[in-house]
Amino acid sequence: MTKVAVAKGDGIGPEIMDAVLKVFNAAEVPLQYEFVDMGKWVFDKGYSNGMTPDAQQAIETLGILFKGPMETPKGKGVKSVNVTARKTWNTYANKRVFQTLHGVDTVFSKAGIPVDITVVRENIEDTYGGIEHMITHDVALSRRFITRPGSLQVIKYAFEMAKKKGARRITCGHKANIMKITDGLFLEVFYEVAKEYPELKADDVIVDDLCMKLVTRPDTFDVVVLTNLQGDIVSDLCAGLVGGLGFAPSANIGDHICIFEAVHGTAPDIAGKNIANPTALLLSGLGMLRHLGLMQSAAIIENALLYTLENGQHTGDFGDKSRPSLNTTQFAEAIIANFGKKPEQGAKPLLPDMPSTQTHFKLDKNPMLESKEESNEKIIGVDFFIESNEQPITIANKCLRHAGVKFKLVNISNRGTQVWPTGSVYTNLVNQYNVRFESIDDFPLTQQDVLGLYISLSGNFKICSSELLQMWGDKRAYSLAQGQ
Ligand code: NAI
Repeated sequence: MTKVAVAKGDGIGPEIMDAVLKVFNAAEVPLQYEFVDMGKWVFDKGYSNGMTPDAQQAIETLGILFKGPMETPKGKGVKSVNVTARKTWNTYANKRVFQTLHGVDTVFSKAGIPVDITVVRENIEDTYGGIEHMITHDVALSRRFITRPGSLQVIKYAFEMAKKKGARRITCGHKANIMKITDGLFLEVFYEVAKEYPELKADDVIVDDLCMKLVTRPDTFDVVVLTNLQGDIVSDLCAGLVGGLGFAPSANIGDHICIFEAVHGTAPDIAGKNIANPTALLLSGLGMLRHLGLMQSAAIIENALLYTLENGQHTGDFGDKSRPSLNTTQFAEAIIANFGKKPEQGAKPLLPDMPSTQTHFKLDKNPMLESKEESNEKIIGVDFFIESNEQPITIANKCLRHAGVKFKLVNISNRGTQVWPTGSVYTNLVNQYNVRFESIDDFPLTQQDVLGLYISLSGNFKICSSELLQMWGDKRAYSLAQGQ
């Protein structure tokens, strides 16, 4: 029998996990569970990543983690165990399914507009690297990583999933009009992958417009794929379309390890009262059963859940307030009592069990994700991020003295807006500038040339950080300042 790791989590986690496992056991789901130690209480015992070494080993051996929500201890230096788990095990795609559930009233269900949207959110990169620095006392900087191989993994998964699901449309949400290099790369990879799936209508929508369209015409969307932070926000928006966080399941998909969990958190305001809604965790568990090929068990439970909702049985957070609500345990028992019944709308077919689609196997070294693209690379300049509270013209005059024979000072910008050689006195300044040097006549530079300039310039300014300016063939591998 397949064994999966289970972490009950914090807050309402143990209550909703017990309710879900009660339903699984009553349905005789052919799974064994290994309970592992993860969560806030594990941090408190001194394990800085929120899990014991035994838990990590069990999860890496079994390949599947079914988890309740976990609290991130407040305070500096402690990272979320949820994010750590997703990143450590490279669960690159976060799949969240948002479907109209009969019995869960929303403005759209009342208007007869069905919602069935699957959001695939990139799960590793973006600002979630959490690589942040105070570079002056006034200026905080976050590094946003979007990589070609990372984008490729999640976008390929989204297309493959959309094809299997029989989706009509797959949409890339992005902000490539502003973040031309990072979001531009994600969008470029999206259309590269789209060529391999001519049967799917692939299009893109700028993320702000996407939010507006999702709340006005959610029925026109099918599968939506986004970078991490935008995907985080858009998926909570979609949860709102179908009745809130109590109905939002999620699957974190990787090549070796997958994590199934609800979108919501530990709900500290209602923890310990046995009143939480276990539906989102149950739906996440059903995603896990289907991932493992346990189609029959998943359909029996899902039909019973849909029947229960359609029947008006509900926990306190939703449903007809004139009918008494059930507590968490009673809600699980109501689902169990409805095994064998089918909802009037949206009954799931009792498909035979399929072999597991798991691809879990043991690794002995870290996989290197690398694209094979090669191009004619050359260094043609450098950006220095310097601390200064002087006026642009004063900084320019000092910088010009350091340019030497290889470099020319091209421009100076502040918060991304050009302030020298042209600019406006109405641009507010902060005490951190980007001074951009390029090679004279585009002559290729070496790192030693750049270091020489660094040393020279550091005599005048505190250099907070620097970035090489590179050309790949005809393509500029850096952005221009606003106004440049
Ligand atoms: P939350 O999702 O825990 O709660 C937001 C609101 O939704 C609360 O009013 C809560 O009572 C309600 N709610 C959530 N789940 C519910 C359920 N199943 N049934 C009924 N009502 C429910 O978000 P919050 O308060 O921002 O976060 C609390 C803690 O959870 C934090 O420590 C946070 O870091 C953690 N968290 C963990 C996640 C995970 O484990 N994947 C995800 C999100 C937050």
